[in-house]
Amino acid sequence: MRFPVVTVSRSCKVVHRLKQSSFLSPASALWRHGSVAGSSQERKDVRSHYITTPIFYVNASPHLGHLHSAVMADCLHRYKLLQGFNSKFATGTDEHGLKIQQAAEAAGKDPLTFCTDVSERFKHLFSSCNISYTDYIRTTEQRHRQAVEHFWSVLWNKGLIYKGHYEGWYSTQDESFLTPSQLGDAMDSLGNQIKVSLESGHKVEWMKEENYMFRLSAFRSQLLDWLQGNPRAVQPECFHQLALQWLQHDLPDLSVSRQSSRLQWGISVPGDPEQTIYVWLDALVNYLTVAGYPDKHHQWWNVVHHIVGKDILKFHAVYWPAFLLGAGLPLPQTIHVHSHWTAEGKKMSKSLGNVVDPLQRSQMFTADGMRYFLLRQGVPESDCDYTDLKVFKLLNAELADSLGGLLNRCTAPVLNPAQVYPSFCPQSFPREQGGRAVAEDYHMLNAVKNLPSVVEQHYESMHTYKALEAISACVRQTNGFVQRHAPWKLDKRDSKEQRWRDTIIHVSLECLRIYGTLLQPVMPEISNKLLSRLGVEPGERSWAALNFLPRFQGTDCPFEGRALGSDSGVLFSRLENPNVDKHEPKKAKKAAKLK
Ligand code: MSP
Repeated sequence: MRFPVVTVSRSCKVVHRLKQSSFLSPASALWRHGSVAGSSQERKDVRSHYITTPIFYVNASPHLGHLHSAVMADCLHRYKLLQGFNSKFATGTDEHGLKIQQAAEAAGKDPLTFCTDVSERFKHLFSSCNISYTDYIRTTEQRHRQAVEHFWSVLWNKGLIYKGHYEGWYSTQDESFLTPSQLGDAMDSLGNQIKVSLESGHKVEWMKEENYMFRLSAFRSQLLDWLQGNPRAVQPECFHQLALQWLQHDLPDLSVSRQSSRLQWGISVPGDPEQTIYVWLDALVNYLTVAGYPDKHHQWWNVVHHIVGKDILKFHAVYWPAFLLGAGLPLPQTIHVHSHWTAEGKKMSKSLGNVVDPLQRSQMFTADGMRYFLLRQGVPESDCDYTDLKVFKLLNAELADSLGGLLNRCTAPVLNPAQVYPSFCPQSFPREQGGRAVAEDYHMLNAVKNLPSVVEQHYESMHTYKALEAISACVRQTNGFVQRHAPWKLDKRDSKEQRWRDTIIHVSLECLRIYGTLLQPVMPEISNKLLSRLGVEPGERSWAALNFLPRFQGTDCPFEGRALGSDSGVLFSRLENPNVDKHEPKKAKKAAKLK
């Protein structure tokens, strides 16, 4: 295997920036329209999106990084639904391969029981965190075996797989082949010199086997065409460049099976029980299995979005598209890549004992709290460091104080005794300045009016942190608006003053309605609570229903005069500082909170 060494660093920097070509070859026009196989059924149905997470290895319990992939995909799925698209959302577990076989042996369990146990843990985490997948795939399922066998046979019948000889380095932990230039030297725990992968740090072993090879080399120029013709196929841009860079050099053919004597836990090569299909080929086909391959995949295998971590980019941006091209199937529309979480500045690993348990954290900070944190702090281009203290500070500031405080102010009986969505008075807040509103109020209105398109752009590119940053800035502006006009100080006996007070609250509730609607993909529970409190019905929560402050535009507002929802509970309860010992005296706790 001769891949150029390009390590995926902590922040995504590609050494050589390749020239971006605007050239769109006739072939790449086909990728775009998803009709490589030429069937009319495979024409792009833009109303149907298919979103996937990677399928998770079951050799260990879920960790924070896994939840991050799942939350990103869930957010995209919910966003597509909100926009009125059909969306299918698949996740699941990757259960074959040598490392699972070894983990089951180490646990003293038969492989399937072992896989079922861990797969259930993933399912439990996902349901606890409201990951609203529409299909959960396990690679040990019969439907998947059929899909993989069929896919293999298609490649075989097209002459794209041949019996060959592989000799080289292999990392079982990464289930990946490596070139000498991708290796470094290290010591194992017994003080022996070993070779490790420079990228993952995992041990590699020399492997010499007869097995089946896939003609990857035949696809280099088509892959280049695809990436050059579709500059947004891999996002963010830095990862697109990385994939292009890999393709600047020859692509050696890829070993796609292992001898069954070494690897039993997998799917046998059709017609050759002496060989087991390479776990990555097996795993990648899961995306097709869920779509209904081999005969019912046309609706969904069309506009496909894969969410992947940076460590598995090559499998998704090089191997997978090559397999698909070989099988005559459309290529994914987008591969969304995210970087990794470290814990207290270090790579998370079992041996360091610093793996962050996402289930425990979602119980501590709530599911929506963890979702918000991961998406607000996770920057796709660079690694992010996790600490409990960061979660505590962020959630208290943005959810409890800022958003929760705003809702509380505008719905508290003291300011809103009638518990309604009050009326807007155009004389107090006219379209042109001259009423009670000041220049900053008009700026705020403008920012909130533009917010849906800003958020849309960032949700589309999966820069969710930017969307949340924009929402959070608007929430601050709305709090500033309320604070500036202090409606609680307005004279209750003066009807003009009361009309202005109602207008301030009406505008603030309209802002909150926009925030609640836009936040649904990120925080389904909190948004639901917020929108219900505002009296917004389920059918009024779609993207199409956003229509901010119609009264300011001179049209009717369906919410004006409507009763508020009855649940007046706290939107998000302030969290206790996780770093403060529960047994410390109260005073010390308070001091720590103020830090
Ligand atoms: N089984 C393969 C994927 C096959 S998809 C056809 C696999 N599994 S994994 O369990 O190791 O990783 C699943 C996802 O978790 C990947 O997207 C990976 O990048 C992500 N993460 C693993 N560690 C991570 C962090 N520390 N931080 C963020 N995400 C991380 O690879």
